[in-house]
Amino acid sequence: MRVLVTGGAGYVGSHMVSTLRRAGHPVVVVDDLSCGHRETVPPDVPFVQVDVADRPRVTAVLREHRVEAILHFAARIQVGESVVRPRLYYTGNLAASVALLESALDAGVERFILSSTAAVYGAPIATPIEEDHPAVPVNPYGETKLATERMLAAYSSAYRLRYAALRYFNACGADPDTPNLGERHVPETHLVPIVLETALGIRPSVTVFGTDYPTPDGTCLRDYVHVLDLCDAHLAALEYLANGGQSAAFNLGTGHGHSVNEVIEAARRVSGRPIPVTYGARRPGDPPALVASCSRAERVLGWRAKRSSIERIVGDAWAFHARLHA
Ligand code: UFG
Repeated sequence: MRVLVTGGAGYVGSHMVSTLRRAGHPVVVVDDLSCGHRETVPPDVPFVQVDVADRPRVTAVLREHRVEAILHFAARIQVGESVVRPRLYYTGNLAASVALLESALDAGVERFILSSTAAVYGAPIATPIEEDHPAVPVNPYGETKLATERMLAAYSSAYRLRYAALRYFNACGADPDTPNLGERHVPETHLVPIVLETALGIRPSVTVFGTDYPTPDGTCLRDYVHVLDLCDAHLAALEYLANGGQSAAFNLGTGHGHSVNEVIEAARRVSGRPIPVTYGARRPGDPPALVASCSRAERVLGWRAKRSSIERIVGDAWAFHARLHA
């Protein structure tokens, strides 16, 4: 299937481009390079540097490449930033997605896969979280992703468009077979890269945000899922939509939580380096535990995470970071 990947120079998007090519799907990438890295897109993949909100140019790309499905990764992704600079999220996530869907309808693209997030649930009232758990986001990041999902639901009822909204829990890890692919955000706020940069001596210590949560060791529990497992889920969702599957949202995680302390321990084992820790206050807005129920993805898409042991995730991420800073 001919696929457009938005944000194909970003973290999950660049891994997706590589996965799609291995699976034999022709790919075209659009990315404005505001956060992405041009060199992660292979030179023989058609690449257009454009904002997804640029409706005429994106529509032209869709038509020129006779795109049959859009995988929409381009987005801003920092919860904290979304609180202090919400306009970046309402324009860059919501308004850009409105424009992208206009382009999709104009060009007759009928399949759409959205990178969504566990942030649509807000502070969960039950765990593991099912897809029909109330969606009450607690920050503009989650709000804009949920609004995009709701727009997709309305469009899917009214127009010739079917979609899958894939709600990632904690994406991490890297492709061990593609040396230049990995997680590197600027600035970095995610736990796994921060822990590994500390192992490399780039940071003096990791601050653990809160030790008094109602969890077994007092630190937050998260459901860490390998980026290549996420990519497999997108492939499964593409196939599902191609076979006439109905529009739906799917959680992507493992069903198991790891504490912040467990991630740090895993990184010490994998790297063989000391990782100094400072115990700090809670980070505002962090729920104690975010763990997915993935039974819908398993039942409907035939997907489950296969590479998401914490050892493997941290090991693959360590290989990338150690190379990057060698
Ligand atoms: N953490 C620390 N120290 C750090 C960084 C993180 O203790 O320096 C902790 C956080 O408090 C949290 C855990 O490590 O308990 C994971 O934090 P991340 O920032 O890596 O990820 P989040 O769980 O905050 O974010 C994830 C996704 C978001 C999504 C959010 C939903 O990355 O896209 O879950 O709440 F919005």
